[in-house]
Amino acid sequence: MEKEIKDIEGLFFEEIKDVKNLRELEEIKIKYLGKKGKIQFLLSHLKKCKKEEKPLFGKLVNDLKEEISEQIKKVFSFIHDIEEKSKLEREEIDINLPGRLKNIGNLHPVTKMMDRMIDVLVGMGFSIQKGPDLESDYYNFEALNFESDHPARDMQDTFYITEDLLLRTHTSNVQVRVMEKFSPPIRVIASGRCFRNENVSSRSHVFFHQVEGFYIDKDVSFSSLFSTMDEFWDKVFNYKIKTRYRPSYFPFVEPGMEGDIECIICKGKGCKICKNSGWLEIFGAGMIHPNVLKYGNIDPEKYNGYAFGLGIERLAMLYYGIEDIRIFTENDFRFLNQI
Ligand code: PHE
Repeated sequence: MEKEIKDIEGLFFEEIKDVKNLRELEEIKIKYLGKKGKIQFLLSHLKKCKKEEKPLFGKLVNDLKEEISEQIKKVFSFIHDIEEKSKLEREEIDINLPGRLKNIGNLHPVTKMMDRMIDVLVGMGFSIQKGPDLESDYYNFEALNFESDHPARDMQDTFYITEDLLLRTHTSNVQVRVMEKFSPPIRVIASGRCFRNENVSSRSHVFFHQVEGFYIDKDVSFSSLFSTMDEFWDKVFNYKIKTRYRPSYFPFVEPGMEGDIECIICKGKGCKICKNSGWLEIFGAGMIHPNVLKYGNIDPEKYNGYAFGLGIERLAMLYYGIEDIRIFTENDFRFLNQI
C-alpha cells in the first residue's frame, strides 16, 4: 500500500509539471481528486488493509490528498495570472487611434430658414402664435373674406377631409383665431405647414411652409408695412437689400400686393435663378380687410392693420442655391449633409 501511495504521488508530480492551461489542470484534478479518482481508489483500498495498518495508511492517503489539493491550487493561480495578463496584453487599447465619428443629426434647411426668419421677427417685437394644420373652412376661407362661391377659392386648390374640414392652404388661418383671443395692439407671427392640391414639379409642391405676420393697432400705416418688410429682409440677409412691391389681389387684404426682393444670388444683375430679371417674387402682403377685422370682433372704425405671408421653401431654395423643391422631402443624406 505504501508503495502505491508513493507511486501515485510520483505520477502526480510528473503530470502536473506538464500542465499548460486551466483545462488540462481541471483534467488532472478530476483524475486525482474526483469521485472515481486515484485518491478515492486508495481510500477504498484502505478497507482491505490490516486493522493495525489502517491509521498509518489512512494518514498517508490524507496527507497525499491535501498535498495534491494544495499543489493544484498553486498551479491554478499561477496559470490564471498568466492567462489574465496575456488577455490584457491582447486587449491593450491603442490611445493613438482616432475615435469613430458619430453621425449626428442636423436641422433641416427649411427649419433653419424658418428659425432664422422667426428670430428676426421676434427681435422686431412680434410674438409667436400657432394654428392647426387641419382647419375648418371658416378660418381658412370664410373669415378671411372668401365668399362661398368666390372665384378666389379656386386660387388655392384645397385638400378637403370632410365638407367642412381641410388641410390649411396658408398660415393666414391663424389671423382670425388670434383676433378672437386677443385685443389690439396685436403683433403676431405664426409659422407652419401648408398644403395645396397642386401638380408637383421642381417649383411647387403639395406640402410647404409659410411664416405669417400681422400687426393690428390704431392708425397702422401702409408705409409701416413697407418699412417692416425692408428691415426684415435686411436682417435676414445681413445687408441692405432692395425690395419692390406690385399690386396684387388676396380677398383678405385691401390693398393687396406681392413683394419681390433683389436676387440674392446675382445681387440684381440677372442670373438663372431670377430668370435674368434681377428680382425674386417672395411674399404676399397688404392692409387687413375691414371684413376680416369684423370676423375677429375688432372694430374696423377704430383699428386697422397689415399682414404678410412668406413662403419658406422658396427662400431656402434661393438661399442655398437649390433648383428643385422636391429634394426637401426626399431625405437624401447626400443633399442634407451639404447644408
Ligand atoms: N396667404 C397668402 C398666400 O398664401 C399670402 C398673404 C398673407 C397675402 C397675408 C396677404 C397677406 O398666398
